[in-house]
Amino acid sequence: MAPSTFITLAELAVQRATWDAEGARVALVPTMGALHLGHLSLVRLARQMADRVVVSIFVNPTQFGPNEDFAKYPRTLVADLELLASLQVEAVFLPNAATMYPDGFQTFVHNQGMALTLDGQSRPGHFQGVLTVVMKLLNLVRPDVAIFGKKDYQQWRLIEKMVADLCLSYRIAAGETLREVDGLAMSSRNRFLGDQDRTHATAIYRGLTAAKAAYKSGERDAQKLTLACRKILEISQAVKIDYVELRSAATLAPLSGQVTEPCVLLVAAKLGTTRLIDNMEME
Ligand code: PAF
Repeated sequence: MAPSTFITLAELAVQRATWDAEGARVALVPTMGALHLGHLSLVRLARQMADRVVVSIFVNPTQFGPNEDFAKYPRTLVADLELLASLQVEAVFLPNAATMYPDGFQTFVHNQGMALTLDGQSRPGHFQGVLTVVMKLLNLVRPDVAIFGKKDYQQWRLIEKMVADLCLSYRIAAGETLREVDGLAMSSRNRFLGDQDRTHATAIYRGLTAAKAAYKSGERDAQKLTLACRKILEISQAVKIDYVELRSAATLAPLSGQVTEPCVLLVAAKLGTTRLIDNMEME
């Protein structure tokens, strides 16, 4: 059965009140659409954790910089709704920009620590847009649990931090990254890659797995682990590295010397005009 779609806040509130009355547990999967198997795995996780699943689809303008790909971000609503119907999602929230950011909107969520590094450094203002829209989606849907992908590792950790710092009662859960057969992390932006860049993009996964193999064989030196990945990325001139960073998995604080805590290697790189991010937990 096709999911119910809600465009206005009033429609969503009526549905939410019905679920309240039923005592149903609700899971939210926030997305920007252009759904792929990675999103669907988050929906499946949501289904295991709740009685009702809401997917939001909103290409959030405030998380794109002025020279970023907001205008060309893929919008594939008909296909998205078909995919969600196949997973028996109960509701799809489809707000528009005027609903989320009405005239006079002036309040944003700003993280002053973790958001200033990595993607936050390369994309100033990005996480302020993400946290603001996620805060709004949480408050509108009031889910028992909201699910995010580990592919956007920094985003996931920032949302956890926002929930903790601001004493929100929502549970945040994370789903593992899904990969294509050659290891490329699934992303809505992969469709922008030309054939050659698509081939070169696999260097990201190969670099991450090389570092992980080194970690598994006992290497704990932060610089050597980072270098194991970087060396592979640097083989291909098509891969323009933004960052390769080993960070604390919990706080994303930089690490140096011998690492003793759980850590994650994060990569951002451009292939042509397409910016890709990926990461791997070292464990
Ligand atoms: O990960 C995304 O798709 C977006 O950043 C999110 C969480 C839906 C907020 O717009």
